[in-house]
Amino acid sequence: MESPEGLERAVYPGSFDPITNGHVDIILRGAKLFPRILVAVLENPKKATLFSTEERVALIREIFKDQPHIEVEAFHGLLADFIRARQARVVIRGLRAVSDFEYELQMALMNQQINPDLETLFMMPSAHYTFLSSSLVKEVAALGGSVRGLVPETIERNLREKFASTSESSSL
Ligand code: COA
Repeated sequence: MESPEGLERAVYPGSFDPITNGHVDIILRGAKLFPRILVAVLENPKKATLFSTEERVALIREIFKDQPHIEVEAFHGLLADFIRARQARVVIRGLRAVSDFEYELQMALMNQQINPDLETLFMMPSAHYTFLSSSLVKEVAALGGSVRGLVPETIERNLREKFASTSESSSL
């Protein structure tokens, strides 16, 4: 059966620096509701990231390489414009705790203002991941702690490599 117009795929935007298992959980939940999920990786030249945009896109593609209905693309500029250009109507966002709510509400209302056809769908990640964030994962990895089970294996490996090269160059 064909999906109603604009509901063929939902867009899941974020910085994903790096993607965590909390994000993966939301993507997989979204994929049960929509035929396709487009993971949209924000390219923000003003924000310093550990992984470049190309790296973030490549890593997420690798994680979902066996799931062709999960697509990954970088975007810049307004999310509402990107959604319109991709002929989508639904943005998925995860709500981990009440503390996420105010920021998410503001963003959803602003996006609605810019593109009235756009709907934001909030999903709760599994309770295991409510405490997770990309910054915490980076901090733990940078200090030599284990992030096993919190991020996909490829991210764990890449974090180890990033911080190994950082510590090598800082000890020079
Ligand atoms: N599991 C684990 N962590 C999660 C999570 C989940 N399910 N959902 C969010 N997070 C964490 C992220 O890891 C990130 O942690 P960090 O702050 O420690 O790095 C934090 O929550 C927020 O990240 P994210 O969901 O990636 O959102 P963001 O704030 O980085 O990006 C955009 C939000 C990309 C959707 C928004 O900035 C945007 O649309 N920008 C485009 C410009 C635009 O249109 N602006 C107007 C919008 S109103």
